[in-house]
Amino acid sequence: MENHSQNGTEALLKVSTLNCIDLSNPDIHQSVSLLKQACLDCGFFYVINHGISQEFMDEVFAQSKNLFHLPLNEKMKLLRNEKHRGYTPVLDELLDPDNQVHVGDYKEGYYIGVEVPEDDPDAEKPFYGPNVWPEDGVVPGWRQTMEKFHHEALEVAKAVARVIALALDLEVDFFDKPEMLGKPIATLRLLHYEGQVSDPSKGIYGAGAHSDYGLITLLATDDVMGLQICRDKDAKPQIWEYVAPIKGAFIVNLGDMLERWSNCIFKSTLHRVLGNGQERYSIAYFVEPSHDCLVECLPTCKSEDNPPKFPPIRCATYLSQRYKDTHAELSVYNNHQT
Ligand code: OGA
Ligand code: NI
Repeated sequence: MENHSQNGTEALLKVSTLNCIDLSNPDIHQSVSLLKQACLDCGFFYVINHGISQEFMDEVFAQSKNLFHLPLNEKMKLLRNEKHRGYTPVLDELLDPDNQVHVGDYKEGYYIGVEVPEDDPDAEKPFYGPNVWPEDGVVPGWRQTMEKFHHEALEVAKAVARVIALALDLEVDFFDKPEMLGKPIATLRLLHYEGQVSDPSKGIYGAGAHSDYGLITLLATDDVMGLQICRDKDAKPQIWEYVAPIKGAFIVNLGDMLERWSNCIFKSTLHRVLGNGQERYSIAYFVEPSHDCLVECLPTCKSEDNPPKFPPIRCATYLSQRYKDTHAELSVYNNHQT
């Protein structure tokens, strides 16, 4: 199969060079220019000096390990609900059905969204609701750590979104509006790759090839290599490059909603994770606008010669479809529920 050679060893050592955006840089024009270049080129860049301390990042990773180290039966008590909150077991997610011959991704995860109490009218919306939290004392301090990270990561995302707005010739606060990131759908997802060796020729991946769904994703990883990007999804064979982790930096990538907004001027790039036999932890923070936000071609990204390539779509409608396409039906877990 063509897949075999295209994903084979010849690409294993290629490491990508990505632009680095320093959020503390007072020269905003320089940041805009670096970011714009990255977004036009491959849709991936690093963000440093983002304001989240290394000490706190270490705490979030430590708490993530504490959770994943619980016995499986404890974790299954925290199984994700229909609002996409909670624990997702290994093989729950199938990101690339064409190339993943096995049943799914070799990773377990934990989703934490914006906390909305059950009795709040907003809890009727598909991506709002209460989170699933481990019972008090099971992992001490866990909820506080994760809520604090959720909050701080949103501020980083908003700061990045301001640079993106400028790079798209929009008002700096374009994404700060209430229907945008004023009331976002934002999901923190802890990930644990268990140390499987991936084998693309057999369709075994830590995470199958995909692009993320929303505006942007912030990704923090430990120092185990694994993430790969493909700059040109139509190239044959596809060329995959590793993205090296940088201590303290977020790897930021653009999602499909931004590709739609920008009429494909900015790319959402295909990426995947290969396991090399080592355990690996990563923390992704997916940023989407409000439920009812209409994602439609930006005024600065269309012209008579370049009409919108996509029809407008409601954020929640788009997101629901994408989740449905890539996750197991919850009913498959009925036997596990305790
Ligand atoms: C994702 C993702 C990469 C990683 O969760 O969407 O691409 O390194 N994760 O875990
Ligand atoms: Ni991703």
